[in-house]
Amino acid sequence: MKDIILLGIESSCDETAAAVVVNGRKVLSNIIATQVKLHAEYGGVVPEIASRKHVESVIPVIDKAIKDAGITLNDVDAISVTYGPGLVGALLVGISAAKAIAFSLGKPLIGVNHIEGHIAANYISNSELEPPFICLVASGGHSHIVHVKGYRDFVVLGRTRDDAAGEAFDKIARVLGLGYPGGPAIEKNAVSGNPEAFSFPRVKFSDVPYDFSFSGLKTAVINTVHQFEQKRIPVPIADICASFQNAVVDVLVGNTLSAALDCNLEVVCIAGGVAANLSLRSRMERECRKNGISLYYPPVSLCTDNAAMIASTAYFYYVDKKWSANDLNALPGLKLEETAGIKDDVNKNA
Ligand code: KG4
Ligand code: ZN
Repeated sequence: MKDIILLGIESSCDETAAAVVVNGRKVLSNIIATQVKLHAEYGGVVPEIASRKHVESVIPVIDKAIKDAGITLNDVDAISVTYGPGLVGALLVGISAAKAIAFSLGKPLIGVNHIEGHIAANYISNSELEPPFICLVASGGHSHIVHVKGYRDFVVLGRTRDDAAGEAFDKIARVLGLGYPGGPAIEKNAVSGNPEAFSFPRVKFSDVPYDFSFSGLKTAVINTVHQFEQKRIPVPIADICASFQNAVVDVLVGNTLSAALDCNLEVVCIAGGVAANLSLRSRMERECRKNGISLYYPPVSLCTDNAAMIASTAYFYYVDKKWSANDLNALPGLKLEETAGIKDDVNKNA
């Protein structure tokens, strides 16, 4: 069988990324131009600034991805791009570039759901991994527990009812003056702290046992910080970071394990920026081992936003000839379970 070479483009938030991936699993190049420094001074992503920076970066990033892969654009079988969820202006930059390249080369265009991309990062780093499995997707914009039944078949078992896990890390880091993005800063400070120093809330829902809520935890942490500040006592940053991280990890691991056990699945994956957290990885590893479950996760570089995961996802659409029409639009609120339906509508060429 001929190798299928896909170009992936990702611009949903604050990374402009392009990658070349063969057969959904082998990465030939993976270029990421991050805007983190640009947004750090505002404490979070400013959508207008993100869009403008994507416009500047998108073509050089694509050029570099093609060059580093040692191919030309003509060698690519299809062009894939994130079309949601994400910031509408940011998404449109990647989509416009992808459409222009696909149209000018006469190659298929494949719109990819960013959340599916995070899940697919696991296929790149674990060549033997196949569905079915349970995947925890925890990033700055989403927290989901997904039953991955097939490469293009997903059932969302649980999701956050308020903040995403990464968003909670970012907000707490901001209150503690640790900067943006918050996850790595909190993880670093937590190393020297006591995870039992503060007993922060862990929310459980009886109706949907796999759902998350992090806003009560966030409020409890902020109240604790304010109490120290009001008493003019130095805030014990390391202990607060460690106790906060411990509460988030407890809930993420607990709900993921419950889902895997209830569905009788022996494989668990984690994905998204929060999956880079070493405390989450080691606790998940320990609990999976205890329950005879195999755990897979991508390297840190594939947990946070990248385009290799987009090209990997697109491969499974390409082989089923599920490609997108030229009027593909950005869908900022795209849900995981919506993708299949939307694909059938937009894939006029399929
Ligand atoms: O997947 P991602 O790059 O972008 C989105 O799709 O949102 O995730 C970014 C999020 C940020 O909220 C960041 O604080 C969090 O992932 N994050 C972490 C860590 N590294 C990144 N959270 C906890 N621990 C980390 N080491
Ligand atoms: Zn992401």
